[in-house]
Amino acid sequence: MKQLAINGTTLSVVDEGEGHPVLLVHGFPLSHSMWSAQIEVLSAKYRVIAPDLRGFGQNESAAGKLTMEQFADDLAAILDELQIEQPVTYCGLSMGGYIFWDFWRRHADRLNSVILCDTRAVADEEDKVRNRHKMAASVLNHGPEACARIMLPGLFAEQTDRSIVASLEAVILATPPESIAAALGGMAERADSAELQSKIDVPTLIIVGEHDKISTASEMRSMADEIPDCDFLEVPGAGHMVPMEKPELVNEAILAFLNRF
Ligand code: MLT
Repeated sequence: MKQLAINGTTLSVVDEGEGHPVLLVHGFPLSHSMWSAQIEVLSAKYRVIAPDLRGFGQNESAAGKLTMEQFADDLAAILDELQIEQPVTYCGLSMGGYIFWDFWRRHADRLNSVILCDTRAVADEEDKVRNRHKMAASVLNHGPEACARIMLPGLFAEQTDRSIVASLEAVILATPPESIAAALGGMAERADSAELQSKIDVPTLIIVGEHDKISTASEMRSMADEIPDCDFLEVPGAGHMVPMEKPELVNEAILAFLNRF
């Protein structure tokens, strides 16, 4: 991975392949590694940029609050640092999708198209905000195990291979508690972006796992109905972590979408 000086910190970034740039933005509290199957296949034909977001993966921990705006500005700065002027395909899962809305608000000129996986446009409901603050306190007191215990049961379909669940658990357990708490604070106060959906004027692909409990298939279908030029794929037998659970189907859909550019 490349080590890039970005907005006062150093961020680790995968930069592989050549051609149309595809930016893969991971979910919470994860790292670029959730995109391993996509990096391998897409980089044969495209330039794949897959950062570890500030505070996550191989980066140093981040305390305080990690806002979606900060992440969005880091992503734009990564593109600058890599001298990528061509508009990119932004592909984000869950928190990576929450960041997309701020990337759209602040850096829309950098976008060619967007792929939203298992994510939401609305802000957190009150009970969700409360739960995030509870989880943040618990993680700061007891470590990332508290986050893994609460989140893991909701991330995968029942039939998903347990080795995939274990690999994701290892990523969560290796994440600094301060970073987990900081991102929880940022997600809890993120803006509602529902009104942006109808304004997205770049080609969009929405992918969701049939059994996703966090961003449900019906919620994502409504999102697809709101976005003007939007394809929709519901992946059978998958949960929230669809790129890890059904990599072949997801890669096939992404490759077909990217073929348009
Ligand atoms: C994620 O996968 O990024 C998280 O589930 C997002 C969330 O907690 O809302």
